[in-house]
Amino acid sequence: MKENTIRCHSVVEQDSEVIPSGCRVPYYPLVIKSGSGAIMKDVDGNEYIDMLSSAAALNTGQAHPKVVDAIIKQVKEFIHYTPAYVYHEALVKLAKELTEITPGNFSKKVAFGLSGSDSNDGMIKFARAYTGRSKIISFVGSYHGSTYGSISLSAISLNMRRKIGPLLPDIDHINYPDCYRCKFDKKEDCCKLECLEELEDKFRNYLPPEEVAAIVMEPIAGDGGLIVPPKKYVHALYNLCKKNGILFVVDEIQQGFGRTGKWFAIENFDVEPDIIVMGKSIASGMPMSAIVARSEIMESLDAPAHVFTTMANPVSCSAALATISVIKEEELMKRSKELGDYLKVRFNEMKDKYSIIGDVRGMGLSIGVDLVTDRNTKERAREAAAKICYRCWEKGVILTFFSNNVLRVQPPLVITKEQIDKAVAIIEESINEYLKGDIPDEVLLEAKGW
Ligand SMILES: Cc1ncc(COP(=O)(O)O)c(C=O)c1O
Repeated sequence: MKENTIRCHSVVEQDSEVIPSGCRVPYYPLVIKSGSGAIMKDVDGNEYIDMLSSAAALNTGQAHPKVVDAIIKQVKEFIHYTPAYVYHEALVKLAKELTEITPGNFSKKVAFGLSGSDSNDGMIKFARAYTGRSKIISFVGSYHGSTYGSISLSAISLNMRRKIGPLLPDIDHINYPDCYRCKFDKKEDCCKLECLEELEDKFRNYLPPEEVAAIVMEPIAGDGGLIVPPKKYVHALYNLCKKNGILFVVDEIQQGFGRTGKWFAIENFDVEPDIIVMGKSIASGMPMSAIVARSEIMESLDAPAHVFTTMANPVSCSAALATISVIKEEELMKRSKELGDYLKVRFNEMKDKYSIIGDVRGMGLSIGVDLVTDRNTKERAREAAAKICYRCWEKGVILTFFSNNVLRVQPPLVITKEQIDKAVAIIEESINEYLKGDIPDEVLLEAKGW
């Protein structure tokens, strides 16, 4: 067990007395005290390299000085006054910025929220109101959030959907195009997008396409295991939407704001979505989310159909404006692409050495390392992922896994190459120690993950 974690363990113990287990996804008893950039410290004084960015919510790193300054300046002026009733400048400025950095050369409007989840709920409302259709299609393995609408879109965990029904009606799911575990056993050169036939079949047999309001896609499946869809799939799906008057919606909550080397991941696929939902890194960790869409879609609801008292909080707006300018000034998108390519090379070198690594994939600093018990069967090595992440924590790296067995590598975009090298060395050491049987089973009691 990691030494010098007495205060961490004590806080975790107290936490479990007051916080329900349904509100947590435990990996290890890390209690954060402070941080800067890609370095975090716990309450016992241990230091960590952050390879998680608070679940991709800290693309500019922890406490970026420009974000901190913007927050302090705004707090001193005024903390909040609800934009449902009055106006403020930071909101307007930010909304304009968002319409400019999002793909699509058409008039757009913005609705703000407080979490990715509530903006996905809002997106459902706007899509239904605009199209006058009720049905929504999303993907098996997707995660869109925890509110009733977004959890109904999600299809990644039985625990998430148990005991709370009925969920939102008229939501259907299709399989995500997963080339590594292709259900049709196709290779790229002979793939005829058999996976899209599932949807076409539905349209032919029981799901009238003219009743479908929107198809909601994560441009890279995040919590589903960092799956990058083939470009031709995204194009074909988009065209199918256009042919049937269906809105093409992307959930950029996890992949947006430079993480994949572009402002938004969908730009890697050269498609202009009708609606973009964003959150997490938008305000460098301050609570904020947004729906950005064609103006005519956003004008389809009547007041006050989509308002929250604390939406577009000026402190969060100021943090978001600072976040956007940091991404521009520090060229974080370029950095994400370059460091991401470098990281993939390093993980592919490990893949050559260790058969437990079945696949390395991703874009920019959004990388998944798929651990398998056998490269032929591609069986998911869940225990390995849990133990390796736990050992990484013991050695000073914050790393988690999703989809049972995929190491989630999403460091802040401000991470340095030296920090990456140090983290990669620790990950490799942890893989070696796992393979030697040096990580005890008891860590599995703590490292539960998704
Ligand atoms: C793709 C995606 N959509 C939506 C959400 C939900 O966002 P939030 O946790 O801010 O409500 C998440 C969170 O992990 C996500 O990854």
